[in-house]
Amino acid sequence: MNDLAGKTAFVTGGASGIGLAMGRAFAEAGMRVMLADIEPKPLQHALEALQGNLPEVRGVLCDVRDYDAVERAAHMTVKAFGNAGADNISLQDWRWVIDINLMGVVHGVKAFVALLKTHGEGGHIVNTASMAGFLSGTGFGAYTASKFAVVGISEALATELEPHGIGVSILCPGWVATCISESRRNWPKEYGAPPPKGPLSEQFAELIRNGMAPSDVAELVLKGIKDNELYIFTHPEMRPWLEKRVDRCLVAYRKLGPAPQEIMG
Ligand SMILES: NC(=O)c1ccc[n+]([C@@H]2O[C@H](COP(=O)([O-])OP(=O)(O)OC[C@H]3O[C@@H](n4cnc5c(N)ncnc54)[C@H](O)[C@@H]3O)[C@@H](O)[C@H]2O)c1
Repeated sequence: MNDLAGKTAFVTGGASGIGLAMGRAFAEAGMRVMLADIEPKPLQHALEALQGNLPEVRGVLCDVRDYDAVERAAHMTVKAFGNAGADNISLQDWRWVIDINLMGVVHGVKAFVALLKTHGEGGHIVNTASMAGFLSGTGFGAYTASKFAVVGISEALATELEPHGIGVSILCPGWVATCISESRRNWPKEYGAPPPKGPLSEQFAELIRNGMAPSDVAELVLKGIKDNELYIFTHPEMRPWLEKRVDRCLVAYRKLGPAPQEIMG
């Protein structure tokens, strides 16, 4: 998908951070952009900031944990732009992370793929994973589980959608300077009281503060869409960690001995 101008982009978490930067970059590339977010005020501010120069940016309040809300937002997008692009962790913490990071992606895919197939012009889906989609570590269990799942779903989706001319990219950033350290601001009441911040949270907040600019991530996303890249990596300095993981798998695998010829062929 090389020519993005005139296509429609639906961006979840679009009022802040990476989502907002992607929305801006997409609009600047001539796309029509629907920013979906759960926070009304930041969404309003984002729209005010963008719409002056980029009138094809709209916004919708949408909680990605709620499939009906995502479906409604998908239909609003089609209505607004025409069918031009339209197809020691607590249990509450697990639910919240899985509901947003995993089910949010599932809902987005479910609401949009059918619409993309219907218009028959192809398209592109970017699912936001993380380097935590490949790497794990202490205290990261729920987050990394949700991101590994996003990688898995997206890899499957890429092969399923290729015949329809729909590309899939998996965004895998390292540290990015966004509001993610304050993500508990959106903790929903129905999950009970929010768990206290973990002992490592200040350390991570520091890494986030010094992270990559969201606009740089957005540029890499645009390039990844144009080049139809399955993986969009952003932080070259994290490559040794990925290599270590892959090497560890291969070392374990090689202990099984050589692969039988018929399987390899
Ligand atoms: N910042 C990083 O270092 C980093 C690294 C790797 C991956 N990521 C991923 O990037 C994505 C975006 O995070 P960010 O860093 O821009 O954080 P952010 O907190 O700046 O932005 C997240 C946005 O999502 C919105 N949101 C939260 N719950 C929602 C819901 N239920 N429905 C709809 N919108 C909701 C928030 O209101 C906010 O606008 C996340 O999936 C995160 O896991 C971030």
